[in-house]
Amino acid sequence: MSTLASLEERALAELRACTEEAALRAWKARYLEGEVEQAVKKISTLPPAERPAYGKQANELKKKLKAEYESALAAEKERALARSLASAPLDVTLPGRPARRGRLHISTQTLRSIYAIFADMGFQIYRSPEVEEDETNFSLLNMPEHHPARDMWDTFHTTTPGLLLRTHTSPGQIHVMRELCPQPIRVILPGMCYRYEAITTRSEIMFHQVEGLAIGQHVTMADLKGTLTAFARRMFGDQRKVRIRSSYFPFTEPSAEVDIHCLLCKGAGCRVCKHSGWTVILGCGMIHPNVLRAVKLDPGEYQGFAFGFGVERPALLRLGVDDMRLFFENDLRFLNQFPSLSGAAA
Ligand code: DAH
Repeated sequence: MSTLASLEERALAELRACTEEAALRAWKARYLEGEVEQAVKKISTLPPAERPAYGKQANELKKKLKAEYESALAAEKERALARSLASAPLDVTLPGRPARRGRLHISTQTLRSIYAIFADMGFQIYRSPEVEEDETNFSLLNMPEHHPARDMWDTFHTTTPGLLLRTHTSPGQIHVMRELCPQPIRVILPGMCYRYEAITTRSEIMFHQVEGLAIGQHVTMADLKGTLTAFARRMFGDQRKVRIRSSYFPFTEPSAEVDIHCLLCKGAGCRVCKHSGWTVILGCGMIHPNVLRAVKLDPGEYQGFAFGFGVERPALLRLGVDDMRLFFENDLRFLNQFPSLSGAAA
């Protein structure tokens, strides 16, 4: 019993002398896990008569020293924190880390500047599906099955016969005419298109297109020319030379393509424009009578024009990007370079 009393005295004195966490832990090992534990174990070696009194005192000692240790440890931790705050004060006046702001993808920015231009000319936006039927993507656009014109588009067919990923936004013409005709129409149809093509620096298997469609009773080729010239000037700059040249598309008659003076060499001729000085920006034409008939419009009474163009290619030329694949690789090092396009003109 007297051993226990002196053990307590010694242990407490030493505990009070500890001024660091490491010393406290050493104390714990020495007493709580060492001598005190030994003293408790000793109970079983004593004569039965002495066990209750000794056992009680030993267990109480253990409990008391444990509590003392815990409060000493907590107090030491408090002191350590106070010491560290005093030696390296926290400077709350430091500026915080700036939150990184997101930004619009370069294709979205380009699309929005296109919407703004056409909105000013009274065009509304009409959304149509990316998964189409063979009929709307081809047949109703005057390309019956096995028509060689279909070869102009490399197609992703789904496992459901007759269902495919649209190769162009033109099938949207059918949807919007079915929904709105015989009311007059002035819409653009933006969206993603898909082609089963080799992916290269100049072509991707997916890309955005914007289709345009105007239908009415007095729509002429002059309206088409005026609309597209105005668009090209606002999109690519007032001074940019624009030319309209005849071409062929199955769903328009007559068909044309619009070229602008090359964005890189401005007409002088360079590698990108194959030394012609011109870059083609879109296809267009007057709606083919067969397409009007497909949506039950009388070509004798109604006419219209349509056009369609890719979004990434002109954006690429305008920004001097040399690889089409960068647009959809989601590499922030690329995307972060285009905080926002100012205005629509280059
Ligand atoms: N759909 C055509 C393509 O993807 C582009 C096009 C040409 C759309 C002439 C038109 C048009 O509406 O009239 O190549």
